[in-house]
Amino acid sequence: MLALRPARPEEGPALTELCLRSKAVWGYDDTFMQACGKELTLTPATILASHVQVAELDGRLAGVAEVKSSGDTAQLEKLFVEPGLLRTGAGRKLLDWAKATARAAGATALVIEADPDAADFYRRMGAVDDGLVPSGSIPGRLIPRLNLPL
Ligand SMILES: CC(C)(COP(=O)(O)OP(=O)(O)OC[C@H]1O[C@@H](n2cnc3c(N)ncnc32)[C@H](O)[C@@H]1OP(=O)(O)O)[C@@H](O)C(=O)NCCC(=O)NCCS
Repeated sequence: MLALRPARPEEGPALTELCLRSKAVWGYDDTFMQACGKELTLTPATILASHVQVAELDGRLAGVAEVKSSGDTAQLEKLFVEPGLLRTGAGRKLLDWAKATARAAGATALVIEADPDAADFYRRMGAVDDGLVPSGSIPGRLIPRLNLPL
């Protein structure tokens, strides 16, 4: 059964690998993936300072999400599911956790700067489009920004 729990600082390297494997499902080449490396890294310090939750299936990491809040908005920093477990409900469960965490921090909306291939997932979860923003990793690339009312 899929269960959620807070990430542990020592899981940083394994969670970073999970993020990279997950991002690569969209078919990006090595150059693109290398450019994303920094943005997809979860350090022990981030895990301690931020809200980071993992999904586990039978004791194995199945996905990870990170939320940062400031004032009345919160940002979904990461949401990555293990490639072999896509479309099995882990994304929805982690997003539900992200929404609850953001709400508890006083946010009224969760902002998502999404991979273009993931945007339809967020729209299905109730997010609405809010323009395009520059990618944090690839100069000149624009990605969808979405807003999920809480
Ligand atoms: C986007 C992502 C997190 C979705 O997670 P998931 O575990 O596959 O999604 P779920 O199984 O919980 O799906 C929930 C619903 O969304 C739908 N859905 C999932 N991915 C979808 C997609 N890419 N496009 C459209 N609908 C999608 C499912 O069919 C399901 O629909 P339902 O309401 O009929 O049941 C996952 O595809 C992923 O990790 N992708 C690679 C990394 C990435 O791009 N992450 C996002 C960074 S912004």
